[in-house]
Amino acid sequence: MDVYQAITARRTIRRFQQKPIDPAVLERIVNAGRVAPSGGNCQPVEFILVTEPDLCRQVFATTAWAGGVAPRRTPKPGQEPTAWVIVLLNSQRGPVTAAADAAAAIENMLLTAVEAGLGSCWIGSVQRNKLTPILSIPDHCTIDSVVAFGYPDESPMAEDTDDDIAYYLDDNDVLHVPKRKLKDVLHHQRYGSS
Ligand SMILES: Cc1cc2nc3c(=O)[nH]c(=O)nc-3n(C[C@H](O)[C@H](O)[C@H](O)COP(=O)(O)O)c2cc1C
Repeated sequence: MDVYQAITARRTIRRFQQKPIDPAVLERIVNAGRVAPSGGNCQPVEFILVTEPDLCRQVFATTAWAGGVAPRRTPKPGQEPTAWVIVLLNSQRGPVTAAADAAAAIENMLLTAVEAGLGSCWIGSVQRNKLTPILSIPDHCTIDSVVAFGYPDESPMAEDTDDDIAYYLDDNDVLHVPKRKLKDVLHHQRYGSS
């Protein structure tokens, strides 16, 4: 699988098989986050890898899923993520472009997961105050996002849209993810020129 294939094949996954993930694969995913671009090369991004089942359950309880179709894409019992990466920003590292650095690291991890046959869900809707003590996160670190991982148990579809960007579930419970067309987001030379 080349990088472009991974990029286009990746979809957010919110139903997971309960098959364990090889720890070496998870470390490879985090390593892909580690080497992401960083403004000024400050590298404020740190990671907590959570795989212990009881801790996974506690992380899951702090997260919110697919607000656009809630609660129909919150993983049901037996469909939860089997691993989590908590993405932290360390304020002691001069985070000049902290949020962008975190986003670059996260996307690297999502794509590396695709290559390994894993699904993922980038989650910004997390109860940070609740999760911080659960994971013993120190004062100089804040939670940017959490990322859920696991073997996929659904096959969402991306499709081009003219206007309506609301994702939806069809009659077969398949998630459809509308994407704005290339011609509508790409401007050649000057804005408005196709
Ligand atoms: C910054 C960010 C925060 C997100 N937060 C959540 C979230 O809290 N819960 C969730 O279920 N999905 C979340 N998502 C996933 C988006 O809903 C998803 O990327 C979008 O619907 C497009 O689907 P796709 O990833 O399959 O292209 C988030 C994505 C991003 C980039």
